[in-house]
Amino acid sequence: TLFEQLGGEAAVTAVTTQFYANIQADATVSNFFNGINMADQTSKTASFLCAALGGPKAWGGRNLKEVHANMGVTNAQFTTVIGHLRSALTSAGVAADLVDQTVAVAETVRGDVVTA
Ligand code: HEM
Repeated sequence: TLFEQLGGEAAVTAVTTQFYANIQADATVSNFFNGINMADQTSKTASFLCAALGGPKAWGGRNLKEVHANMGVTNAQFTTVIGHLRSALTSAGVAADLVDQTVAVAETVRGDVVTA
């Protein structure tokens, strides 16, 4: 699975931590996370990604369409955020082909997150 190829839960968590660091350093998208506990956010998103990438534990959290329903995220903002995931994967030394496949999995939630 992609989960195994990336190096399992520890590797996915490390990439997710860098993903949110990149987001918080970008004023075009950082405001969405004002007041959010980022340790908690990192842990939830890492769990979601582990499951989506074929890991052994099912996602036990909330439905992503409901979670993101009132945020007004645009397609452009989502694309920016996906770019931050891509950079996090690349800076972790993940091979280009695996980066593309992982980003493609994250892209599957675009329709649940984008509402504007
Ligand atoms: C929760 C924003 C994209 C997965 C949240 C929350 C915010 C947020 C503010 C916290 C909601 C709360 O606790 O009240 C955004 C923005 C995005 C984005 C602005 C893009 C522009 C994504 C993507 C994923 C994702 C691409 C998955 C790959 C999650 C998960 C939660 C969450 C798993 C926690 C759900 C739960 O509480 O069970 N998001 N998100 N989000 N987001 Fe996103």
